[in-house]
Amino acid sequence: MAGFGMIKVETRGKVGLVTLDRPAALNALCDQLMTELGQALRDFDADAAVGAIVLTGSEKAFAAGADIKEMKDRTYPAVHFEDFIGNKWETVLSIKKPVIAAVAGFALGGGCELAMMCDIIIAAGNAKFGQPEIRLGIIPGAGGSQRLIRAVGKSKAMDMILTGRMMDADEAERSNLVTRVVPVESLLDEAVKMGEQIAAFSQPSVAMAKEAVNAAHELSLREGVRLERRLFHSLFATEDQKEGMSAFAEKRRPAFRNA
Ligand code: CAA
Repeated sequence: MAGFGMIKVETRGKVGLVTLDRPAALNALCDQLMTELGQALRDFDADAAVGAIVLTGSEKAFAAGADIKEMKDRTYPAVHFEDFIGNKWETVLSIKKPVIAAVAGFALGGGCELAMMCDIIIAAGNAKFGQPEIRLGIIPGAGGSQRLIRAVGKSKAMDMILTGRMMDADEAERSNLVTRVVPVESLLDEAVKMGEQIAAFSQPSVAMAKEAVNAAHELSLREGVRLERRLFHSLFATEDQKEGMSAFAEKRRPAFRNA
């Protein structure tokens, strides 16, 4: 895999691990970092040996937001015509394999938005989430106003976005922003363990489960159920469906071949 300057990539078993590594700026998401992240995610998505991806930062910061110093002098026409925070930031949404955000420390602004673009968020006890853009004279620009409300509801999303306050890990768990909170020392192990568990299943079913759940954010209930049914039916064309159900009937562990 290509060498990167602001992220680290490695595999742990069948899990691809991307670590944001720009400590001097608390992993502020500058253009170079987002370019590298997009490349790493696409590389893992194309790697048949990888079944799930974990995205993490440091103990101090998952990411403290878009790079304020990089964007502070940009003009309206520049950000408009460049579609700033456009496709490059949304690469994570195009990844077929599950992406687990393992969040310790600050996940603010674009950092919180990046975590919310992932499929699952696991938080360390010291995690702090927030959309503080209002304090900079702007608003969230990478989906925060749309995804936060879907996770935590209108009142809390308004509270976070209009006051810019931070939410600690316990509040994030209570509010359904994260699936679970773990001690900071075991964050990565827990995330990788979850990734391994997912990667052991039949990858076509994993990809379709991800697609079906994510579609619930975009579609009406009727359309979403219809899509789910179609995806469900299509899995009966896989060898792994035969293997999974035969293994159950024969009281043995299935040997999925991702076929
Ligand atoms: N952009 C650029 N640099 C950043 C940064 C950011 N988002 N966040 C932190 N840094 C830099 C700081 O400037 C500082 O650099 P120097 O040492 O060169 O001065 C370094 O990281 C360490 O930061 P602090 O000294 O501020 O560390 P702290 O522990 O005192 O505070 C913090 C931590 C509360 C996270 C504070 O850094 C902070 O408030 N950061 C900005 C958070 C923010 O506003 N994020 C939203 C950005 S806008 C956005 O994301 C738009 C969008 O929707 C996409």
